[in-house]
Amino acid sequence: MERTYLMVKPDGVQRGLVGEIISRFEKKGLKIVGLKMLRIPREMAETHYGEHKGKPFFGPLVDYITSSPVVAMVLEGKDAVSVAREMMGATNPLKAAPGTIRATYGMDIGRNIIHGSDSPESARREIGIFFRPEELTDYSRAVEGWIY
Ligand code: PPS
Repeated sequence: MERTYLMVKPDGVQRGLVGEIISRFEKKGLKIVGLKMLRIPREMAETHYGEHKGKPFFGPLVDYITSSPVVAMVLEGKDAVSVAREMMGATNPLKAAPGTIRATYGMDIGRNIIHGSDSPESARREIGIFFRPEELTDYSRAVEGWIY
């Protein structure tokens, strides 16, 4: 099973979308193995978005992600990274497929509700930034035989 890192961004928290977003992933069949709310320190945000340093949106992106609490989570399942990315939709909500989280709730690329790892390698890196190993749980659910 694969793990991915998901984060309801400050706009999602402020707009009261946390429950709705977590519920979508749960109903799909992904398993929550880590979950917490935090206000991201600036240095942590710069590490998380390090690959975008130097791009024009880097400063505004760091300002935005540190402006208010986020809800960070680790979800587990078969092809969890791709499944979550499909459910999130394209980065720009205007280009996101109908029904996806960003298409349904987002209006602007700078306020796109949710972050999700773009590869299993990114997921491992991002999980390591936001969670200590002991904050992640390993458990099985009876329902799994009905999902796979
Ligand atoms: S790139 O250059 O194609 O790799 O960038 P992209 O994958 O499209 O976006 C990387 C993250 O930056 C956010 N982003 C922005 N934030 C604020 N303003 C603007 N204009 C903007 N453009 C991109 C985008 O939401 C991505 O954030 P995450 O959290 O990774 O989804």
